[in-house]
Amino acid sequence: MHEDISHSGDGGIYGEALVNRAFQGSGVSVGSVAGFPGSYVQDSENPILPFGPVMTGWHPIGDVSLSLTVLHPLSEALPVVMELDIPYNATGEIGFYNEGWWGIDVRPGTYNVSFYAKSDEPRSNGTLSKIDVSLRSNLTGETFSSSSIPFSPGNNISSFEWTQYSTQIVNTATAPNSNNTFALTFDASEVAGNTYYFNLLSLFPETFKNRPNGIRKDLGEAIFDMGSTFLRFPGGNNLEGYSVEQRWKWNETIGPLTDRPGRVGDWGYYNTNGLGLLEYLEYCEDANIEPLLAVYAGYSLDIYGQAGVSFPEDRMNEVLEDILNEIEYVTGDTGTKYGALRASHGHPEPFKLNYIEIGNEDWFSSTYPYRFPYLYSGIKQAYPDITLISTAWNENIDYNITIPAGGMWDTHHYEEPSFFLKQFDYFDNWQENTNNTNVTVFIGEYSVFQVDTPDGVVNYSMPLDTHIFNPKLLAAIGEGVYLIGAERNPNVVKMTAYAPSFVNLNHINWTPDLVAFTANHDETVLSASYRMQQLLARFRGTETLPVTTTSGDFNPLWWVAAINGPSNSVYFKVVNSGNNSIPLTINLDVSYSSVNGTILVSPARSKRDFRCG
Ligand code: AHR
Repeated sequence: MHEDISHSGDGGIYGEALVNRAFQGSGVSVGSVAGFPGSYVQDSENPILPFGPVMTGWHPIGDVSLSLTVLHPLSEALPVVMELDIPYNATGEIGFYNEGWWGIDVRPGTYNVSFYAKSDEPRSNGTLSKIDVSLRSNLTGETFSSSSIPFSPGNNISSFEWTQYSTQIVNTATAPNSNNTFALTFDASEVAGNTYYFNLLSLFPETFKNRPNGIRKDLGEAIFDMGSTFLRFPGGNNLEGYSVEQRWKWNETIGPLTDRPGRVGDWGYYNTNGLGLLEYLEYCEDANIEPLLAVYAGYSLDIYGQAGVSFPEDRMNEVLEDILNEIEYVTGDTGTKYGALRASHGHPEPFKLNYIEIGNEDWFSSTYPYRFPYLYSGIKQAYPDITLISTAWNENIDYNITIPAGGMWDTHHYEEPSFFLKQFDYFDNWQENTNNTNVTVFIGEYSVFQVDTPDGVVNYSMPLDTHIFNPKLLAAIGEGVYLIGAERNPNVVKMTAYAPSFVNLNHINWTPDLVAFTANHDETVLSASYRMQQLLARFRGTETLPVTTTSGDFNPLWWVAAINGPSNSVYFKVVNSGNNSIPLTINLDVSYSSVNGTILVSPARSKRDFRCG
């Protein structure tokens, strides 16, 4: 599951390496988390919201002045641009640099650079021979690699008209750390006295499957390597917006980047929407996983709490129409209005879309009982083959949501390990017990977020009150028992997704997270929960197998067995939630040619790191 939280989108899986590339905000560090100096936690003590227009992340080189102006808008969506004023007496190297998303990873590879620039100075008299762009150390000033954009004699940065310039930096150096910058510089003798304007400055290292405007390579690979089969996006709370106006509007996340205004996201920072609907879909395509598209369902959160605001019943047709347009953009052929629009954005082939989620966590809202049935039947009528997912059911609120046969229910659980142990058999008779015939379950968000003891819940105060910081092996054990309970019931539980997937350790909104990262790709940490899911996902059966015990029952061992028909393999998955090793003998009533096993253990127990494979 992915939403932009903890700078997991901008500054995270979105491959753009420059912070605040269009002066809209974000990337500000205020407050700090113990052990993570300079990191940001959004809470009542840190109410400063880093929204633009701001100069955050940009710094002058040499004797120049940098400021923001709205007098030379690049586009309607990106009206604020950076003005570079170069004094008449400037000498040497002048320009500016960007500090990246808490640094820039510099290692051998090709970096794609682009930016828009213009001038309106009559003195721009054609003496400019080149602009240099380079990757540098922020500590020593050393230049690792550079490239130039040449200007032929008599030419200059185009007067009056915005022009996009691009080049590649082919870098062979490995920086010792990620405290690096991207610099854009001039020779002052060529431009002294001039004024230039810049916007949408971009630096893209290699992306996942080399997709332009794509996904950060190592993070894209992490999800791929886990054995994921689908991606739920774009939220989460970040879909809903703090207000109706600030919701995730799919049609503002598509097309040229110059047409994407971005928005104030739900997690305290500005979203560029460079990672938009098409980019999410293309990532799914490149990773060979299915999209599970969450659509805005007429409910937005309230910044002061979860009371929220809903579209009134007599205006739900507007919400439905927007959803149908979005689906047409994803699945329509080029003969349709929005299919043609997608084609004009470079993807003529329609995407396969089998799952749509109607909203997010709508149990917070009292209006789902009229919003859900209206949207369900409207979407179903147009797209009968798409499985529609309800984000609420009568589980935890006193209202009536009937999920039609063929529909799915998304349940979320952030709990203690003991809760997940108790839920082991929750799905065993769920359909029968709840009269939800032919309704299936999507566990759309789950994680152990607190650790409990026989004496009660232990509250971890950092970084968010009561949340543990990292997913521990204990968390993976609780979650593993829950997932095994789900896997025993494949007729009921069709999909599961841990949340949140990623955290940038410089801006933590929520813990624990599946994968933690910084700008430095060597610092990416795949959690114990990640390893646990990788084991479950990579060894998938096509049918569950009955298991007969000769002694003992579930707890502290929990298991499921399955057979994979095509590969003729039997998988036995077992979690030990107890304190001791337990000898286990498994007898198969079929002959077999080989046995392999993998055990996930913690260093504390084994004095080894995770042992996989
Ligand atoms: O995963 C963090 C948040 O938890 C999600 O945005 C929301 O759906 C849930 O409450």
